[in-house]
Amino acid sequence: MRCNRAFVCASLAALVESRDPVSGPIDCLDGFSASGAMALQWKTRLVSKIRVLAVDRCPSAMSALEANCELNGVHWRRVRPHEVAEQFSTDCGSGKLKILTALEQVNSVMETCPFDFIHLDPFGSPAGNIESALRHLRNGGLLSVTCTDLASLLGQQPRVAMRNYGAVLMRVRCAPELGARTLLAFVAACAARCNKSIRPVYCLSAPRFLLACVRVERGARRADDCLARSVGRLAHCRVCQQQRPATSGSIGGDNAGCGCGDDAEGGGAVAVLGPVWLGDLFESDFIKRMARHLLGSAESDSLLASEDKILLKMLLEESQCLSRSTDSLEVSMPPFQPMFYISPKWLRLSGVDLPRLEQLIEILRSSGHAASRTHFDLTAVRTSASIQACRDLILQHSTAAILNHNNTTDAASLTSSMDS
Ligand SMILES: C[S@@+](CC[C@H](N)C(=O)[O-])C[C@H]1O[C@@H](n2cnc3c(N)ncnc32)[C@H](O)[C@@H]1O
Ligand SMILES: [Zn+2]
Repeated sequence: MRCNRAFVCASLAALVESRDPVSGPIDCLDGFSASGAMALQWKTRLVSKIRVLAVDRCPSAMSALEANCELNGVHWRRVRPHEVAEQFSTDCGSGKLKILTALEQVNSVMETCPFDFIHLDPFGSPAGNIESALRHLRNGGLLSVTCTDLASLLGQQPRVAMRNYGAVLMRVRCAPELGARTLLAFVAACAARCNKSIRPVYCLSAPRFLLACVRVERGARRADDCLARSVGRLAHCRVCQQQRPATSGSIGGDNAGCGCGDDAEGGGAVAVLGPVWLGDLFESDFIKRMARHLLGSAESDSLLASEDKILLKMLLEESQCLSRSTDSLEVSMPPFQPMFYISPKWLRLSGVDLPRLEQLIEILRSSGHAASRTHFDLTAVRTSASIQACRDLILQHSTAAILNHNNTTDAASLTSSMDS
């Protein structure tokens, strides 16, 4: 969870950095604070730039939280929900290290006061708290959500996924990314009910949690556009794992574009999953700012373990997924076509020497596809290429390598026979 806290703190720091300092401190809510580790990290790092309310409904967690404040030299004041707005303006505006605490249900606190940054980290699914948080986030604010209900989001418990997120999911090879996209589609639908839209700034998939952070913007028309352009169903081929946005949303009317289900035997090859988020997952400038906070500070070693630093670097690379022909950071993709990742191991190319990932990225990019490593799966590449295109390129490349090898061997044996 150290990694989770470090990324959340860095996203708050990046938000603070992007705001005009004259607009004053930004209001932050740690909604499921437990012993307050997250809230204390924010306050001790960002001091007078933020005002913090730490909430937990459990009395023993609240006692631990307040004791931890004292251990860290941070003043605290226990408030009731209706006192938050007033106490923020009168008591927490100075440079003093002080946070507000509340022994409450988080939804009842969110009803009383608007925030610029809300982090939700419940045990289990955050689904029941997301709409309330979105309703009370200010325009341009960030909602950050940590999910530990991975069995449902990764498709291992499809009925729970349907209950909590209203989504059809199943076990697929891109499960971590599909889980992130399912969560984002759910967040977008909740935002639309509040006449708001979302833009993901990053998603982080780790072994024990999934973290997503979105920017929220006000406006009913924006909400409509967000749903229409970025949320939809996905046709997923159970045979080859190809996926692409479904057109009709009905089973049988869609295909994943791979042809596996074309013959009569292949009926049922395609499953229609979702709703999922079909738009971009990353805002690379924001992640760069986060990386400066995570890697550039004197305390960076205490913030992130070395494997988490690798995760961050990969996230940065992934957020800039490029093709060789692209010189800007924008991906050369048709609009609203999500990119998934492909592992060469999935391609069932027996007898073929599979390229290393860096080589495969090079091959894909030089053929005009966007490609990069992906933090979702360290054995895979994120790419705009279809599974079939990827397979063809690997085959071409391995044939070219064999021909090259044979030509070189022939030339060498010719030279040696001329020498003898
Ligand atoms: C997973 S822990 C939070 C961990 C914490 N964010 C950290 O970084 O250490 C979840 C906490 O949420 C609290 N909680 C659960 N439901 C709640 C609710 N509806 N309102 C407020 N707190 C709640 C629990 O008491 C528990 O302390
Ligand atoms: Zn297929």
